Amino acid sequence: MTTIIDGKAVAASITGAIKDANAELQAQTGRKTGLAVIIVGDDPASHTYVGAKSRMAKECGFFSVQHTLPKETTQQQLAGLVHRLNGDDAIHGILVQLPLPQHLDADAVIQSIRPEKDVDGLHVANAGKLATGDLESGLISCTPAGATVFVRRVHGGDLSGLNALVIGRSNLFGKPMAQLLLNANATVTIAHSRTSGLAAVCRNADIVIAAVGRPEMVKANWLKPGATVIDVGINRVPAPEKGEDRTRLVGDVDFAECAPIASVITPVPGGVGPMTIAMLMANSVIAAHRASGLKVSGQLSKLISG
Ligand code: GUN
Repeated sequence: MTTIIDGKAVAASITGAIKDANAELQAQTGRKTGLAVIIVGDDPASHTYVGAKSRMAKECGFFSVQHTLPKETTQQQLAGLVHRLNGDDAIHGILVQLPLPQHLDADAVIQSIRPEKDVDGLHVANAGKLATGDLESGLISCTPAGATVFVRRVHGGDLSGLNALVIGRSNLFGKPMAQLLLNANATVTIAHSRTSGLAAVCRNADIVIAAVGRPEMVKANWLKPGATVIDVGINRVPAPEKGEDRTRLVGDVDFAECAPIASVITPVPGGVGPMTIAMLMANSVIAAHRASGLKVSGQLSKLISG
């Protein structure tokens, strides 16, 4: 029997612990966790994601601020806002939603965020800590951290002897995901658009993590029977069966074909997606505790890092 991971339920258990941790912080210091989310322009998908992040921050009891800037915003204006938030003691986490409009230099903006407030884990200081095996003092990119919670629930914290394949090499996901798996002793392969013979590489993997942005690319005959399959893709495709101009969300894995072959699989939607937001909230409450020289509760630590 294949296990289908219920990402919503796992995320809900984590956000429950985050609410408690935030309430404890407030009782101890008089301060709530403060999260600022910046969005530039009017990409509808980005607005949907950011709205969900701001709503969840409120639900967790945080001080949640959303800065919605017009698409004509200049680099200096954006830099000025980040600079102000860097110096604001009520703000512990800053997230700049990506992608930014083309005229803006996203990397310059990300690298100008104070590493202690970089709840996306994209600053070179945080990426470097992860790359050198320091999983304690930095902040880890939210989606790979969420996918790792699933992997740990299935395989435990020690992946010795297991082959893991990450399809995708972005700074936001593929690279940090590979580092997390490597840190847990997996034998890790990173595949990408220039990889040849991907199906054969995939058939060798005990754990497959797909993050390429290609609808239903991973097929049943790519899988080793009994593999753990984590689908990070979120692709909107036409759904004529639902009516004219209707769409539906699918992952990078052909779920219907792959579910019977896998031993564990995540659905889209309702798999990794809810975990990204939960881990963003976790990073924010962790950053807020650190700002007061405190550590988050054992319960939350156990849920997110085993
Ligand atoms: N755009 C898509 N996913 C993400 C994310 O995790 N963080 C940011 N900042 N932008 C994104």
